[in-house]
Amino acid sequence: MNIQWYPGHMTKAMRAMKADIAMVDVIIELLDARAPFASRNPDIDELGRGKSRLVLLNKADLADDRMNEAWIWYFKSKGFSVLKINAKNGVGIRQILPAVQEACREKIERNRRRGILNRPIRAMVVGIPNVGKSTFINSFVGKSRAKTGNKPGVTRANQWIRLNPSLELLDTPGVLWPKFEDPQIGVSLALIGSINDEILNKEELALELLRHLCRYAPEGLKRRYDLEICGETPDIPVMMKMLETIARRRGLLAKGGEPEMEKAAGILLDDFRAGRLGAITLEAPPSGDAA
Ligand code: G4P
Repeated sequence: MNIQWYPGHMTKAMRAMKADIAMVDVIIELLDARAPFASRNPDIDELGRGKSRLVLLNKADLADDRMNEAWIWYFKSKGFSVLKINAKNGVGIRQILPAVQEACREKIERNRRRGILNRPIRAMVVGIPNVGKSTFINSFVGKSRAKTGNKPGVTRANQWIRLNPSLELLDTPGVLWPKFEDPQIGVSLALIGSINDEILNKEELALELLRHLCRYAPEGLKRRYDLEICGETPDIPVMMKMLETIARRRGLLAKGGEPEMEKAAGILLDDFRAGRLGAITLEAPPSGDAA
């Protein structure tokens, strides 16, 4: 599957973040718990060099909880602070402030030794599109959304939000564009909705999803569409037949009675993205040291 990509966006977003980074103590990096590897832009390590780091596995409710734990273990083994959260309903949000303080402990200690006692920690939130940055910021900041005004040297129009006396967030979320050469990463990004559907072939993407679901999470397919699953590794004609069955069961038939395959693909993708096929993770932590 060939997904087209436009790296121009990436350069621009990165340049904007570089302008702000000097003001920041800690980078809060949001990943999609269903695809933590694909949703992680590796350039963030260069951008965040010397900064404290907190990884948040967001949308943990949509991901397999055993895999959430495996990913937490993986990122911890790489030296990151990590939490799983659900920005939408607020689960896990209360653990974030203590985790930020823990991640910045050395800096807080250094300040204390220098007699700087009341300086808040400053955090920048970054993540690829659709990972849940806006939802997270609203949930984290809640009602305490009080702008603290521009600080000299900060990119014009950027504001700091004071959460409490010990933490300020940079208001403009850093949009990191996804980065990939491996088409499989592109497929994961498309499945979690971080790449615009318009540049994709929905049917091909639905087949990629079926391939994964038949192998790792067939129950949701059986439950939702009453599909018969023939083996863990169905070939393309078998998967096309499954899509056709979804179309027929949903009454998606063209005038001549032909199943509307693209619409069936859309339904399958929407159901997956909304968690209606179960809590499913697309990627296992790499066994090498790719983080
Ligand atoms: P962004 O700023 O990073 O682009 O993402 P945004 O906050 O707009 O969130 C993208 C979508 O993901 C939204 O759904 C949002 O509700 C959903 N979302 C964010 N965090 C979580 C989470 O932890 N769990 C789940 N299940 N969903 C989450 P939407 O369909 O675009 O909007 P809405 O219908 O929910 O309002």
